[in-house]
Amino acid sequence: MAMRKTRQRARPGVLAAALLILVSACQRDADPISALAWAYPHGPTSTYGQPLGTGPFRVPGSPLVLSRAQMEAAPRPIDWHPQDHPPAPAVVGGPGRAGLTPCAECHLLNGAGFPASADLAGLPADYIIEQVMAFRNGDRRSAARGQPSTAEMIKVAKAVSPTELRQAATYFSQLPRSRWVKVVESTTAPQTYPDKYGWLNVAPGRGTEPIGNRVVELSSDLRRMMIDDDHVVMTDYAPLGAIDSGRRIVMTGGGGGMPCQSCHGERLEGIGMTPPIAGRPAGYVARTLWDMRTGARANPGVAPMKVVARGLSAADVRDVSAYLASLQP
Ligand code: HEC
Ligand code: HEC
Repeated sequence: MAMRKTRQRARPGVLAAALLILVSACQRDADPISALAWAYPHGPTSTYGQPLGTGPFRVPGSPLVLSRAQMEAAPRPIDWHPQDHPPAPAVVGGPGRAGLTPCAECHLLNGAGFPASADLAGLPADYIIEQVMAFRNGDRRSAARGQPSTAEMIKVAKAVSPTELRQAATYFSQLPRSRWVKVVESTTAPQTYPDKYGWLNVAPGRGTEPIGNRVVELSSDLRRMMIDDDHVVMTDYAPLGAIDSGRRIVMTGGGGGMPCQSCHGERLEGIGMTPPIAGRPAGYVARTLWDMRTGARANPGVAPMKVVARGLSAADVRDVSAYLASLQP
C-alpha cells in the first residue's frame, strides 16, 4: 500500500521530466533561423557567381585595364582605386600568407564588404579587435548551423597575430563611412539563387517573384563585385512599409523599450565602443541581430544588446534592418 502511494506520487514528476526532455529536444531540433532564413544565404549551387567573361577588365573611375590572364594572376584584392584609401598593411591588402586571407578580400579595400560579410569602415578599432577575438574564442558564431561565410571569418580570426589585428583594426577604423546600399520597397524582387559564397545571384532570364516577408539583398553589379570593385553598391528590396515600420521600432526600441539612439547616438552614428548602425546593409544587420537574439553572439560586450534583440520579432528585425540601411551613414 505504502509502495503504491509512493509510485502514484512519483508519476507526475516522471511525466514532467519526460515532458521537459521532449521540449528541450524539440527546441534543439527547431531550426533557429527559419524565421529569418533570408539573412543567412548560402548554398552549393554555383562555384563563382556568373562567368567572368574574357576581358579586358576595367571598372568606372579607374585607369587600370587587365587582360583575363593578368586578372587570374593578380594578387587579390585588386586595388582599382588606390587614391581612395591610405596604404593598406599586408594583412588587409595582401599579399596574404599561408593560412591567412587578407581582410580586404572579403571586406574590400574601402571596408564596404560583400552581402555575406560585413562593412568595417569607420568601426571603432577596439570594437573590431573585440569582435575578432570573439570569433576566435568561440563567443561569436552564427545562429545558422555551419554558415560557411562565418566559418571563414572564424578561420581568419584564429590565424591573425595580435600585431596584424591591431594594424587591420587601425586601417578600417580610419576609413570614411559611405553610402553603399540603397533600399527599394516593392511587392516583388528579382528571382535569385544563393551562391556558395553567401550572396544571392540573379537567376538569368527568370523575372521577378513575390517578395513575401523577406529582404532580398543584391549587388547592383555582380561582375564588378566579383573582381573587387569597391565602388559597387548593393540594393536591398524590402516589403512595402518596412522602412516606416522600422523607423517606429528604432525610435521606441521595440519590446525592449530602449530607443536605439540612446546608445548608438542621435544619428545612429556610433559612440565610443558602440558601433555605428546607420547606413549598414540590411542582410548583415538582420543576421547579427538574430545572432544576438539566439545567443550565437555572446561576447561580454554584447550584454546591453541582449534585451534589445530579445524584444524584436523576426518581422521587427526585418523592418529595423531596412530602415537602418536606408539612412545616410
Ligand atoms: C574569407 C573571408 C573573410 C576574411 C578574409 C576576413 N573576414 Fe571578417 N568577416 C567575414 C564574414 C563572412 C563576416 C560576417 C560573419 C557573420 O555575419 O556571421 C565577417 C565579420 C567581421 C567582423 C564583424 C563586424 C561587425 O560589425 O561586428 C569584423 C570586425 C571582421 N570581420 C574583421 C576582419 C578582419 C580584421 C580581417 C582581416 C584580419 C577579416 N575580417 C578578414 C569574412 C572575412
Ligand atoms: C543599452 C545600449 C544599447 C541600446 C539601447 C541599443 N544598442 Fe545596439 N549595441 C550596443 C552595444 C554596446 C553594441 C556592441 C556590442 C558588442 O560589443 O559586441 C551594439 C551593437 C549593435 C549592433 C551590431 C553592430 C555590428 O557592427 O555588428 C546592431 C545591429 C545594433 N546594436 C542594433 C541596435 C538596434 C536596432 C537598437 C534599437 C532597437 C539598439 N541596437 C539599441 C548597445 C545598445
